[in-house]
Amino acid sequence: MCSWTKSSWREKPIKQQPNYPDLKKLRSVEEELATYPPLIFAEEARTLKEKLASVSKGNAFLLQGGDCAESFNAFDGNNIKSLFKVMMQMAVVMTFSGGKPVVKVGRVAGQFAKPRSADFEEIDGISLPSYRGDIVNDMEFTEKARIPKAKKLLKAYNQSAATVNLLRAFARGGMADLQQVHNWNQDFLKNNTLGAKYEEIACKISESLQFMESIGINSKNTAQLAETVLYTSHEALLLNYEEALTRQDSLTGDWYDCSAHMLWIGDRTRGLEDAHIEFFRGIKNPIGCKVGPSMKEDELIRLIDALNPENEAGRLNLIVRMGVNKVEELYPSLLKRVESEGKKVVWSCDPMHANVEKTNTGYKTRDFENILGEVKQFFQIHKAQGSVAGGIHLEMTGQDVTECTGSTSSAITAEGLSSRYHTQCDPRLNADQALELAFLIADTLKEAR
Ligand code: PEP
Ligand code: CO
Repeated sequence: MCSWTKSSWREKPIKQQPNYPDLKKLRSVEEELATYPPLIFAEEARTLKEKLASVSKGNAFLLQGGDCAESFNAFDGNNIKSLFKVMMQMAVVMTFSGGKPVVKVGRVAGQFAKPRSADFEEIDGISLPSYRGDIVNDMEFTEKARIPKAKKLLKAYNQSAATVNLLRAFARGGMADLQQVHNWNQDFLKNNTLGAKYEEIACKISESLQFMESIGINSKNTAQLAETVLYTSHEALLLNYEEALTRQDSLTGDWYDCSAHMLWIGDRTRGLEDAHIEFFRGIKNPIGCKVGPSMKEDELIRLIDALNPENEAGRLNLIVRMGVNKVEELYPSLLKRVESEGKKVVWSCDPMHANVEKTNTGYKTRDFENILGEVKQFFQIHKAQGSVAGGIHLEMTGQDVTECTGSTSSAITAEGLSSRYHTQCDPRLNADQALELAFLIADTLKEAR
């Protein structure tokens, strides 16, 4: 195998990249970014890898979720807080009812660059380069807005740094204290059936906390009751950005991409001979790779060997996104082959990306029934084969948006989508839908115990 450097991806073919008109400017931005502090510490990435190893053995469950694309405009503390709260709620439900510790990983603090199905977008006979995320260009449909601008990399870094900072403050500074379990239930949830179901669990937890307090265990003397960790992750699509944040760890001499704890490769950029696989094989972070309907068995084995040659548990998360109508047909044989070859991976289910539809009013949406359907089948397939269904990967927000149709309590219709449709890219589950999914997963985890 050829030697790896953080720049060796530049020698390989690469997909889904912007065409920067000013390459000199791009170079100078990359050089500037390379002098900025890392956003995470390598030791944290190693700890996450250990936790994911535990997920791969069935001793914990991975919850990965957040925006499809973070946005510069919607950057505000309340958004970050509501995502934090809903992830805490989901984790409580899964831990309390499902009986498993939950490893929480946000699609956050760096989830800006988007792969697109077409390089150009056409409206009324005018064709312009596609919007590729706020780190690249602007969404507005004008020629000027769609020009990729290198300086946006710096803004993305700064927004990510502020986001990580706030998440760390919430995780360590009191917001994650189990005493706050009622407070994680947001106002718009409180009056519906799910909010009430959540309150029941919250009350039981409060009772247990009172009991523990009476025997001297409380959040002042027991960090596990007062603190949590929410790890960060994003699709490492723009390798110019990722390379600039890739640093050699002073403790081990290994290379880590310090833009996030975990990075993943998208379904459109996982070509075996391509730049993304080259970059990923050299970084030591825990990594993910999307597995979509076009994946072949042999190809998947080669991909696993390239990304995890030492077969290290916790290193590689395969994020399966087949679609509700295809998962039963395509997934069992892939799973069987990988398991039969003894490859250690974390299998997680992304029920979002192959269940996209367009309403006749022009909204891109996903139906909650289809999302639930894919998740249920994913668990059944694992049960039938006796392997570990390790986690879930969601596009979700803590806010009360109307982007995905369906669900028991919010019952959003195709006509209702327009009321609070705010996503920068793909439709997200709102807090209510995310919580409903958490209850369903908790039941499945409980059954499997
Ligand atoms: C995504 O996760 O936002 C994404 C684009 O997914 P995929 O690569 O699976 O299409
Ligand atoms: Co998406």
